[in-house]
Amino acid sequence: MATPANLRQLPKHIAIIMDGNGRWAKQRRLPRLAGHRQGAAAAQHVVETLLEYKIPYVTLYAFSTENWNRPRVEVDGLFRLLEERLDEGIKYAQEKQIKVHHLGKLDGLPPRLQDKVKRAVELTQNYNRMTLSLAFNYGGRDEIVEAIRCLIRDGVPAQEIDGTIVSRYLYTAGIPDPDLLIRTGGEIRLSNFLTWQSAYTEIYFTPVLWPDFDKKELYKALIAYCERQRRFGGLAQEQDIISDTKQARQKR
Ligand code: FPP
Repeated sequence: MATPANLRQLPKHIAIIMDGNGRWAKQRRLPRLAGHRQGAAAAQHVVETLLEYKIPYVTLYAFSTENWNRPRVEVDGLFRLLEERLDEGIKYAQEKQIKVHHLGKLDGLPPRLQDKVKRAVELTQNYNRMTLSLAFNYGGRDEIVEAIRCLIRDGVPAQEIDGTIVSRYLYTAGIPDPDLLIRTGGEIRLSNFLTWQSAYTEIYFTPVLWPDFDKKELYKALIAYCERQRRFGGLAQEQDIISDTKQARQKR
């Protein structure tokens, strides 16, 4: 397999919806939590690979505000899993100089988990090799509502509010918008993930279940991204602009 050095313009920020853990477990007649456990291992491998590829920003959707609707045993299991992963993850982050960032509301999470998240963020705040954002108890609409509340609380005059200011009030303040968003597990939707930030993000959907999303699958997603032409609402190439101008002149 070629290295991504051959790939032109790798994304700077990759965000991932890690879907399919439950089905992965079901296919093996295992409890759903075994799927999440395997999903956490897959997340670790993907982060290791993205570190090798020098991707500076990675965001993982680990628990949405809607996930509270799952059976209590699964919710508690996910909280426990995150706690365990944070214990190990802090050491790894320190060793690899990864800055851990949290997107979402800490309120409502078990106090021990809140402490661990805060500790991970605090202990890694000065690293800059990669910013790893964990979206946990995160909802994109909630994030925007919260930003509006804070703008009003801070008395920002209505005429001064623009996209740049709104971005500064989001959980992702200071983090560039994702260039590539990957969703595994076959669903074709964004599920309230990075609602504001993904306006111009390239989206890659794959039926592969998250625990099976390995280096080869990641590579496929990166190739697909490199083959896209990002236009941000403009035209693709300078050439297109020149030829359109010529045609317009000829019509006159
Ligand atoms: C969606 O799969 C996945 C989740 C709701 C949780 C994702 C969590 C992890 C991968 C583990 C924790 C991660 C870290 C980074 C510590 P699903 O349960 O909806 O799967 P299904 O659609 O097949 O039921």
